[in-house]
Amino acid sequence: MLQLFSKKSIAMNILIPNIIFSLLIFNAKCSPPQDPINCTYQAFNCTIKNTYGTFPDRTICRAAEVVYPSTEDELISIVANARMLKRKMKVATRTSHSIPKLVCPDGENGLIISTKYLNRTINVDQSSLTMSVESGVTLRELISNAATAELALPYAPYWWGVTVSGLLGTGAHGSTLWGLGSSVHDYVVQLRIVTPAGADEGYAKVRVLGSNDPELNAAKVSLGVLGIISRVTLKLQPMFKRSITFLEKNDSNFEDQATIFGKQHEFADCSWYPSQRKVIYRIDDRVATDALGNGLNDFIGFRPTSSLVLAAERSAEESQESMNDANGKCIDAAATSSVLQMSAYGYTNDGILFRGYPVVGYHNRLQSSGSCLNGIEDALITVCPWDPRVNGLFFHQTAFTIGFSEVKNFIEDVKNLVNLVPQALCGIDIYNGILMRYVTASSAYLGKQEGAIDFDITYYKSKDPNKPRLYEDILEEIEQMAMFKYGGLPHWGKNRNVAFIGVINKYGNANEFLRVKEIYDPDGLFSSEWTDQILGLKDGISIFKKGCALEGLCICSEDIHCAPEMGYFCRPGRIYKDARVCTRLST
Ligand SMILES: *[C@@H]1O[C@H](CO)[C@@H](O)[C@H](O)[C@H]1NC(C)=O
Ligand SMILES: *[C@@H]1O[C@H](CO)[C@@H](O)[C@H](O)[C@H]1NC(C)=O
Ligand SMILES: *[C@@H]1O[C@H](CO)[C@@H](O)[C@H](O)[C@H]1NC(C)=O
Ligand SMILES: *[C@@H]1O[C@H](CO)[C@@H](O)[C@H](O)[C@H]1NC(C)=O
Repeated sequence: MLQLFSKKSIAMNILIPNIIFSLLIFNAKCSPPQDPINCTYQAFNCTIKNTYGTFPDRTICRAAEVVYPSTEDELISIVANARMLKRKMKVATRTSHSIPKLVCPDGENGLIISTKYLNRTINVDQSSLTMSVESGVTLRELISNAATAELALPYAPYWWGVTVSGLLGTGAHGSTLWGLGSSVHDYVVQLRIVTPAGADEGYAKVRVLGSNDPELNAAKVSLGVLGIISRVTLKLQPMFKRSITFLEKNDSNFEDQATIFGKQHEFADCSWYPSQRKVIYRIDDRVATDALGNGLNDFIGFRPTSSLVLAAERSAEESQESMNDANGKCIDAAATSSVLQMSAYGYTNDGILFRGYPVVGYHNRLQSSGSCLNGIEDALITVCPWDPRVNGLFFHQTAFTIGFSEVKNFIEDVKNLVNLVPQALCGIDIYNGILMRYVTASSAYLGKQEGAIDFDITYYKSKDPNKPRLYEDILEEIEQMAMFKYGGLPHWGKNRNVAFIGVINKYGNANEFLRVKEIYDPDGLFSSEWTDQILGLKDGISIFKKGCALEGLCICSEDIHCAPEMGYFCRPGRIYKDARVCTRLST
């Protein structure tokens, strides 16, 4: 998630010290992300966005009202009131990181219930190794409060700006094949959720779900359609230390190595740079707590970043796009990844300097990061790199898991595409390549169905929805190949519409989920058009219109879904012949 500081016109030896210097001096303060909710009249007549400032269909999401409960009792009376009025509701977080429209209530009279003030840690129990938090606590607070009691959440997303209920609701995860698995939701031992109810029960009730309750399998990954989680209890571990080394290798035998590697190291992951034909392997294991080291992860892509640097990068990328300058992208890709590699991605051995691998330190200092959330307003001098208030990163994110049995074939297909069109994937290398994390089967009905590798691909998005991207066709082919040829499961909180076509049929227990939804919220007050569509209750995931395939709103079936006037036509894929992609035909 990074596209920084690479300018082919500047010699690398000048560039690198400057960058590192600028990272150090900008570290102190940063404008935190904007509140995603904006109301014209107090808490009424509101719009809500995600943190990137735009949804896949680029529409604006409206709500009649927003409320900010700070206790479970308030939550109950809010839900009861709305239920009585049969009013549509949606849960929103302070941070709003989901790319699809999970947060948008339907209709004119929608109510947003924010978890912003449900942000207390209720208790941390060292003897039972559990921690109870309210649903709006961020991952960062969770990690930090657990660490104070010398406890650790073993596997978690790498970006700590997400909230507990948001990350549970969308099935967010870390990377491991160990323990109870990679997903945070598989560490939930109790969950309290407020749902609508009948008049006899006062129109709302709290349901308390324990580990042995089958309904927990619905509630722990719920897309927000069952009700609103008020409190979560997680099973933790005693604090431990890790030792991390990043190792670069070529990708010659990566199709075989990819699955093997995950079984060798507890916190393994890989970053694959297909156009550079290289892989960065994360060799990452637990070590004894007396191992020396106080390492820190302050990932460069999540640091406060100069908005001037971001704007320069964005304009370089835009001009490469408009001039079809694939070569320029490839040069930038190589430069960016080597700068990152030399600066150890932001890891240090002691919180200040990187002196070499391994980086050894306490888990809570290494597992996640996000220093661009810190600090005080500085009038947008530095921001999180994707902050929509500045002209910075603007991207699509395609993220999916592919079962171990298919990973080898998928990687080979991608490699074959790169062999056919060597420069096609330089664009993703600028955004740190393809991040691959190991995930495990989950008992959650909408959780991972089998052991798999999660592939995260971030790539350029045009500000103009009608403008095609460079090598549009190759990423569309990979997207369709992943979802339809290999049955990939799209991440619920990322992706473009096409990734969700037929998604619910990929879940063996979808009917169990829908049965619980029918019990908890029979009127569908927490559902919306989008959640009905992804749950297979309503048509319309694909939006057919001029240029729809460019934005991933449809799979093209006619040229007009691409951009024929700019030379992009709807054609079959190169390797996956069933794909239909927008291909630039040179004349
Ligand atoms: C809210 O929206 C108004 C009107 O679009 C805009 O002027 C204002 O800056 C926004 N405020 C915030 C905090 O986003
Ligand atoms: C509601 O908000 C929209 C913009 O978000 C604005 O155009 C409209 O005038 C507002 N309506 C009222 C009644 O404030
Ligand atoms: C909860 O969030 C509010 C608003 O962001 C903040 O003022 C308060 O300090 C937070 N409380 C805790 C316990 O983090
Ligand atoms: C890739 O690396 C291996 C050693 O790890 C080496 O044997 C092989 O020749 C390399 N392949 C290419 C194409 O450089």
